[in-house]
Amino acid sequence: MAADKTLLLIIGGGIAAYKCLDLIRRAAERGYRVTPVMTKAAAEFVTPLSVSALAGTEVHQDLFDLTSETEMGHIQLSRSADLIVVAPATADLMAKMTGGHANDLASTLLVATDTPVLIAPAMNVRMWKHVATQRNLKQLRGDGVHVVGPNEGDMACGEFGPGRMAEPLEILDAVDGLLRKGRLSGRHILVTAGPTHEPIDPVRYIANRSSGKQGYAIAAALAAEGAQVSLISGPVTEPAPHCVDMIRVESAREMLTATEAALPADAAVFAAAVADWRTATETDSKIKKDGSGVIPDLKLTENPDILATISKGESRPSLVVGFAAETDDVIANATAKRQRKTCDWIIANDVSPETGVMGGDRNTVTLITADGAEAWDEADKTEVASRLVNRIIDHLDRETVSC
Ligand code: CTP
Repeated sequence: MAADKTLLLIIGGGIAAYKCLDLIRRAAERGYRVTPVMTKAAAEFVTPLSVSALAGTEVHQDLFDLTSETEMGHIQLSRSADLIVVAPATADLMAKMTGGHANDLASTLLVATDTPVLIAPAMNVRMWKHVATQRNLKQLRGDGVHVVGPNEGDMACGEFGPGRMAEPLEILDAVDGLLRKGRLSGRHILVTAGPTHEPIDPVRYIANRSSGKQGYAIAAALAAEGAQVSLISGPVTEPAPHCVDMIRVESAREMLTATEAALPADAAVFAAAVADWRTATETDSKIKKDGSGVIPDLKLTENPDILATISKGESRPSLVVGFAAETDDVIANATAKRQRKTCDWIIANDVSPETGVMGGDRNTVTLITADGAEAWDEADKTEVASRLVNRIIDHLDRETVSC
């Protein structure tokens, strides 16, 4: 239960505003008090009466209502909560936040506050993918704003893709994560996990045997220590860990885009088994066999190396951890990989079929740093995750002390 915690919920003007009614109920179930604020546009989608009835308190809507001596001023309102949640965060609200606008109650509160802010974006898929929205998203993350979602799926406007607001329970998991105090509170950490799928045609793809278990265990262990975790995952059947921001992708190129969009971060762990190649040409039609016995001549091209790109990029997290999946000369290959990809640490693991690592629950790894190789005993992937997270905490703490 989150006794004595107050959320200032800013409801933006989008169709997803209706989900806020459920969000308020669920928040109350978890023990949060909700102080609702609605933009003018939000009131076109849900009535202030419903919001106020569920929150059990008045809804703030007008900047000028707050200016009289008898009312709570906007500065006080903006700072009276433990967390500000903007849901749905429309493209317009995100743009206002990025620009520091203060021309209505919602935007003024967001500029006046020194309270952490979590946004749950929701908009049409094209608006979400628009270069301006993506630029604003990057800026907001850089300004320390936390982000949950959006999810991919059918949208109210009839299109399909990313842009659907995260579900109320996902938003509350993110809230719980942000308000929980742990050794990684206030840290943002990226994790990539799972395989990638590289389409050959609309029904076939190139993939690998990665289950995502190790990456998911790392994401869960980081979140349990209070980190804000962006888990960028290829297609897996593992359930999403609690309190992480799930970003689901299919291909290596999508994973790179999502990883870049999730920066900046304090640390990044690249546990994904990214497919090295994709087909050189994409086809919208299923490739047919014509019975002649001639097999299709699939030309492959190399995928971007996500770890190397981020590690060598301008927004490099201060700690970059890679994995090395090897079957031969494990330590030598992994050591060379660390240097080639310029990551700080690499976790080498033997993925030969007889080890059962790919898809299994246990792992035997060697941590390779600039100081050399350190073999860890065989352990459950959750135990490997917890050892790694302890090392990450030590590293980030030392870095903070030496700053
Ligand atoms: N990696 C990545 N992008 C790629 C390939 C790999 O980010 N296109 C990352 C993995 O997530 C991992 C590390 O690089 O952290 C090493 O991946 P691995 O599969 O072991 O090596 P490769 O770079 O693919 O090289 P090779 O297949 O030759 O061993």
